Amino acid sequence: MFIDVSDLRKTYTSGMIKNEVLKGIAMKLGKGEIGVILGPSGSGKSTLMNIIGGVDRGDSGKVIVDGIEVSKLNDDQLTEYRREAVGFVFQFYNLVPNLTVRENIEVVSNISKSPLNIDEVLAEVQMLDKKHRFPRELSGGEQQRVSIARAIVKNPKLLLCDEPTGALDFQTSRSILKLLQQVNRNFGTTILMITHNTAISAMANRVFKLRSGEIVDEWVNQAPIPAEGIEW
Ligand SMILES: Nc1ncnc2c1ncn2[C@@H]1O[C@H](COP(=O)(O)OP(=O)(O)OP(=O)(O)O)[C@@H](O)[C@H]1O
Ligand SMILES: [Mg+2]
Repeated sequence: MFIDVSDLRKTYTSGMIKNEVLKGIAMKLGKGEIGVILGPSGSGKSTLMNIIGGVDRGDSGKVIVDGIEVSKLNDDQLTEYRREAVGFVFQFYNLVPNLTVRENIEVVSNISKSPLNIDEVLAEVQMLDKKHRFPRELSGGEQQRVSIARAIVKNPKLLLCDEPTGALDFQTSRSILKLLQQVNRNFGTTILMITHNTAISAMANRVFKLRSGEIVDEWVNQAPIPAEGIEW
């Protein structure tokens, strides 16, 4: 399995109050698959994703990604893992406002070992013609396309998307999901995506439902549907 999480636990402590956020999570996702994590606000979705992406650490348990035991890496190794292996896409694009579209992608490309060609990536997300614009000159959907380009330019094995369509209307969401499916197919990138929207789970190979830090349900879609077919 490409992602193999077992008995992952995480507790946040503030003063005397302990908040058990992940209570022994086990999940697996195959190479080249799309996984969706569903669950209410506060159920631990982002915490789980951040630990898989090496942005945060669990207290105990094992996280293996493509044979790397992420949970055993030291800080330097974790930085290297995050930089080389993982692309992140967020709800609010996080583009650098005073850099153009192309420059936003260059920043990541410059520090990558084997980056993809920037203009090819821009063409892939249909933003080549707007590469000299600034983020404020783009629509939300266009900004999300750029942030996807920025995440995939380093050719990551794993793309983590935290509510990538959370700020978009349904038609724009559909086009962003279509783009993610295309990235998955064309680059073989394994994708793990968080969403509140149950309908989106139809495009996933595997779905994990989180509640209060536990996986309460999970299923496999034998035939994930194309994003165009998602009914909102
Ligand atoms: N750095 C932190 N320090 C303390 N508590 C935290 C921290 N990060 C998250 N939490 C707590 O952990 C719990 C899970 O948070 P998390 O962000 O993983 O939820 P989520 O499922 O992603 O929610 P949402 O759908 O609202 O994004 C919440 O109760 C939150 O308050
Ligand atoms: Mg979250």
